[in-house]
Amino acid sequence: MATATTLAIAGGAAALGFYWFSSKRFNGKDAPSVGRYPMIGSLRHLPEPMYLSLYERFGTEPIVRVYFGTQCVYVFNRWSAFKEAMVDNAEQLSGRQSQTLAASVFGDIGGIVMSDGEIWREYRRFTLKTLRDFGFGRRGAEEIIAVETDHLHRSIEAAAGAPMDTTVLMSSAASNIICQLVFGSRLASEDPYFHELLDVFHKISQAGSSNITQSVVLSVLAVVDRLPMLLPLLKLLPSTSVTLANFKKLHDYCCQQRDKHAAEMEKVDRAKDYIEAHLQHQNIRPELFNDTRLAMAVTELFLAGTDTTANTLRWAILFMIENPDVADKVYEEIVEKIGRERLPTMQDRSVLHYTQAAIEEVHRRASLVPLGVLHRITSDITVSGVPLKADSICAFNVYSIHHDPELFSEPTKFLPERHLKDSQFVPCPHLATFGLGRRACLGESLARMELFVFFSALMQRYRFSLDPQDSRTLWDLTEDPEIFKGNSIRTPAAHKIIFSYRA
Ligand code: HEM
Repeated sequence: MATATTLAIAGGAAALGFYWFSSKRFNGKDAPSVGRYPMIGSLRHLPEPMYLSLYERFGTEPIVRVYFGTQCVYVFNRWSAFKEAMVDNAEQLSGRQSQTLAASVFGDIGGIVMSDGEIWREYRRFTLKTLRDFGFGRRGAEEIIAVETDHLHRSIEAAAGAPMDTTVLMSSAASNIICQLVFGSRLASEDPYFHELLDVFHKISQAGSSNITQSVVLSVLAVVDRLPMLLPLLKLLPSTSVTLANFKKLHDYCCQQRDKHAAEMEKVDRAKDYIEAHLQHQNIRPELFNDTRLAMAVTELFLAGTDTTANTLRWAILFMIENPDVADKVYEEIVEKIGRERLPTMQDRSVLHYTQAAIEEVHRRASLVPLGVLHRITSDITVSGVPLKADSICAFNVYSIHHDPELFSEPTKFLPERHLKDSQFVPCPHLATFGLGRRACLGESLARMELFVFFSALMQRYRFSLDPQDSRTLWDLTEDPEIFKGNSIRTPAAHKIIFSYRA
């Protein structure tokens, strides 16, 4: 009890000190602030979901200053500032926040998403190269995706027209692909325990990202490097401890898989999956690559690559229900260009222009990771005329960029036509879905392959409809601000879909 009180007093004092320090930092021009109160920051000025409040109230501002508790976060709210930051200042934007918390839980700083500096650079390079060697973004991955598409069809057919919850269905498909690249097998379907983990993925991406939790976590992280005594306070908070416990479950599983692979390495000549390649690489670069970092990297690949792709597909299905004319056009294009006998492949992209435009519009409207992933600025820069100091934290408002009426007329309408020119698909130059610059999504090419093959294969066979027993409307599932409490992944509310075979 005495320890908790001491920690609380120390936390309060440190946060107040930081509040004072952060208020004194800036002279001259600064980005407009949404307003704040001491300690709680901008919480009372920005109702959940924060990305939407920022869009509605500050949509015309390129950069906005938000306070998560005592921590100032610069949000790039328009395309111009986002591009200037991430592309023109790519190197300076390549930092992440303090990794002290992750290191205290998992034993080291490492992995790809949360690390920065030399460790991140080496891990990113190694991971990209290794996954490419296993066909990532190319033919090898395509074969794996085709097998998963077949399984997806079988699961849908087994339901025989009964309403299906698409969460596990889509997560299993996306996760099996990463499982094969990383573990060398379809564990998401074949290991009964993996089903529990799929639920954990979902909980991790939903929990811990509410404005209040983020405010507490960011406030403490801002001072924890200087005052490590505050770390236990962070771990004690109910919301943080639940997320950490879930993260640990997934991490423990990845450690078990790593150890299983390590026990059989003597027999391995040529690496067949990411873990084997990493274990071999550890012998060449032991100063950077180790067992602990391997488990972190694998955990992150799962987290980053499962719920994202799965939820984009769930959005795609809901947008097709909302826009049956678009669904019919996609279907007709697929039937006309490739027929119904064989599965669509990546080569078909060159003829399925409308289908690609529909997927691009899904990315825009879904704005899946609405505030991106936080970046830390590594040295002083200026963006949109605003001086940003080294160590400032930044976010990018994907939702606001994707719904800017100057870039997209009638932004709330689902219009694939905006991505077509003379009936040819033209990739949208203003999408922030995967980020930009040095830290842009490492899995973009894989995600695009998965989405194209899964989506076109589903469209080739089925019509979708909502469960008639469910009285909620599409708006309740996709627009109601009540369902978007966090800032991490925009997930439609839980629902069931009926897949009807197109005769
Ligand atoms: C529709 C699917 C996906 C979306 C919308 C998405 C989106 C994002 C976004 C917004 C970021 C942050 C970029 C930044 O920090 O500026 C990111 C990072 C990342 N993504 Fe994805 N992602 C998707 C699929 C995947 C897949 C399939 C993988 C796995 C292979 C993956 C692996 C990663 C990794 C490792 C990072 C961290 C990169 C770094 O910090 O250097 N993502 N993703």
